[in-house]
Amino acid sequence: MNIAYSPFSDSTMTDPSNAYAELHAEAPVHYYADYDPPFYTLSKYEDVADALRDTKRFSSHWGQGPRFTPPMGMLSNPPQHTFFRSLVQQKFTPASIRSMTPWIEALADELLDKITDVSKFDVHDDFAFPLPVIIICRILGIPEKDIEKFKVWSDASVEAMGSEDPAPWAEKMEAMAAFQLAQVEERRNMDNPPDDLVTLLVQTEHEGEPLPDPQILSVFNQLFVGGNETTTSLITNCVWRLLERPALWQRLVDDPDLVETALEESLRFDPPVLGLYRTTNEPVTLRGVTIPENAKVMLHYAAANRDPEIFENPYEFSLDRKKNKRHLAFGLGVHFCLGSELARLEARTAMKALVKRFPDLTLENAGERIKPFFLWGRKRLPVQVG
Ligand code: HEM
Repeated sequence: MNIAYSPFSDSTMTDPSNAYAELHAEAPVHYYADYDPPFYTLSKYEDVADALRDTKRFSSHWGQGPRFTPPMGMLSNPPQHTFFRSLVQQKFTPASIRSMTPWIEALADELLDKITDVSKFDVHDDFAFPLPVIIICRILGIPEKDIEKFKVWSDASVEAMGSEDPAPWAEKMEAMAAFQLAQVEERRNMDNPPDDLVTLLVQTEHEGEPLPDPQILSVFNQLFVGGNETTTSLITNCVWRLLERPALWQRLVDDPDLVETALEESLRFDPPVLGLYRTTNEPVTLRGVTIPENAKVMLHYAAANRDPEIFENPYEFSLDRKKNKRHLAFGLGVHFCLGSELARLEARTAMKALVKRFPDLTLENAGERIKPFFLWGRKRLPVQVG
C-alpha cells in the first residue's frame, strides 16, 4: 500500500519522525511521484542496511541526491570509488585523527572564550558552526578568515543537491568552484607546496596523468561541505535534545563521560543526514514492491534508526540505551562516512567544553531547522546562561 507521505509536507519538514511509524507499518517501500524524478524510499532498518551493502544493485554512480548526476570522485562505484577513497583516507587514519585532539580542544576553548559576560548566545552561530568549518579548513589547508563565505557556499551546495532544479544556486556554486580551483592552481605553481589535502590531490597521478580538475573539485567539495554542515548539526541537535529535558543536561554536567553516549543517541535519534540516494542497476523486488531499473531510491537512515524491530522504545531519547551504536547515521559499507571519527572527536570535544563552561545553560526556544529536506539540524539555537 502507498500512503500520502511527502518528505516536503509541513508536518515532515517540522519533524521528519512524524512519518516513520506510518512508513514502517504501511509503506516500507514507498513511491513518491511528485518529484522530478520520482523516487522510492526505504525505511526499515534491514532494507536500508542491505541496500547500503549491495553496491551491485544499488549504485552510487548517479549521485547521492535525488537528481541523476554523473559519477565523480568518491560519488561513484568501485573501482573509481576505491581509488579516491584510499587516496583521501591517508589523511583520516585513526592516528592522524588522534593527533588533532590538542588543537581541536584549544579551538573549542578559544571559541567559548569569546562568549563571556553574556546572558544569551546562539549555539549554532557562536560555536557549532565555526568549529567544524575551521577544522576542515585546516585539514584542507585553506584560509580560515573566509568562513562566513564558506558557510554561504556550503548551504547553497546542499540546497542545490536536494532540489529538482539547482539553477537558483548556480552563481554561488560557480564562486565556490572558482575559489577551489584557485587553491589548486596556487599549489601547482609552488616549488614547495604545504603538506595538506589539496596538495595531495594536486600531486596524485592516475595511470601516469594528473587528476582532472573536475575530479579534484568533487573530492575537495565533498570534504569541504560534508565535513562541516553535518558536524554542526550533530552538536546543535544534541544540545537541543538535552536542554529540552534539563534533567538530561544535568546528568552530563554531573558526569561528563556521558557525552559519548549522548552523542551516539543523538546520531540515532536525530541523524544530521536523514537519508541519501542510490540508483537501481536492475529491477529489485522488496516486500512485494518491484522497484524498476534506473530508479532513484532514498535510503532513510533516520527512519531506520527508529525501527522498533531493532531499537527498543525508538521514539525515546535515552541516555541509558546500550546498543545505540548500531545506528546508520554514518551509512554502512564501502561508502561509510570517511569523517566519522573526526566528527565524533569534534562533537565530543565541543560538548565536553560546553558542559564544563556553561553548566547552567537553558534553552530559549528550539530555533529553526536547516532548509534541505534530506538534512536535519538547527540553523539557530538560542540559549540563556543561568
Ligand atoms: C556528524 C557528522 C557526519 C555525518 C552525520 C556524516 C554522514 C555521512 C553519511 C551518511 C555518509 C554516507 C554516504 C553514502 O552512503 O552515500 C558519509 C560519507 C562521507 N562523509 Fe560524512 N558525515 C559526517 C561528518 C563528516 C566529516 C567530518 C567528513 C570529513 C571531514 C565527512 C566526509 C565524508 C566523505 C568524504 C564521505 C564519502 C565516503 C565515500 O563515499 O566513500 N563526513 N557521511
